[in-house]
Amino acid sequence: MKRIVFLTGAGISAESGITTFRDSGGLWEQYPVMQVASIQGYEADPELVIRFYNERRRQLHDVRPNEAHRLVAELEQHYDVTVVTQNVDDLHERAGSSHIIHLHGELMKATSTLSPNDPSQLVTLTPEQPDIHIGDRARDGSQLRPFIVWFGEPVPMIEPAAEAVQQADILVVVGTSLNVYPAAGLIHYASARCSTYLIDPAPAHLDPSMRVHVIQKTASEGMKELCQLLG
Ligand code: APR
Repeated sequence: MKRIVFLTGAGISAESGITTFRDSGGLWEQYPVMQVASIQGYEADPELVIRFYNERRRQLHDVRPNEAHRLVAELEQHYDVTVVTQNVDDLHERAGSSHIIHLHGELMKATSTLSPNDPSQLVTLTPEQPDIHIGDRARDGSQLRPFIVWFGEPVPMIEPAAEAVQQADILVVVGTSLNVYPAAGLIHYASARCSTYLIDPAPAHLDPSMRVHVIQKTASEGMKELCQLLG
């Protein structure tokens, strides 16, 4: 089977009702990003940061995967699909995608403050138990924290993501402003034989030498066009 890799960002979840980060009215206009999404912010005020992610996690109950998530999942019938997402929501999972690499963590998981990337410390949160509280402890006794990769922290999943892109026959970038590294740098790992598509109503500017097929549409409309192009 041909290998197809999706590199997705907040834009693929926009039509599910989850605000993006950098569009007008986006999340970073309402909250100072370094206060709620950086390791320094967490160390300075863990309670504020824990509360910010509790709020975002609760929002997840009210949203559903959209057509774009569903079409990505359906392509597994015809391709070896890997989803590399910057999103921390679980909408790709809920749409049925089975091979997902979360570069920036997962909202529905919590981990140890001492060893955040130790898999044995991971705890899955549920709609019944969605919140983390100050005083909740991870297995190693340290404060339980959101399993999110904050600015200033390493991105442990970047290696497997880069390998997936290197091996891809098709790379589809959906709904990301390509502002944040190392995620944005993944597009440079595509081989010369890889066909690259970019789906976004306001696509990031890419060097013409990159031969990217731009589909200037929303994720759901753009995915429909992509599926027609792929035949
Ligand atoms: N369909 C497709 N794309 C859309 C839609 C839509 N309906 N609406 C908006 N977009 C596009 C925007 O044009 C923009 O290019 O989605 C992109 C959203 O960009 P950002 O808000 O910067 O989100 P993202 O690229 O995922 O941010 C990357 O930054 O703050 C960090 O960790 C956070 O993972 C996030 C990372």
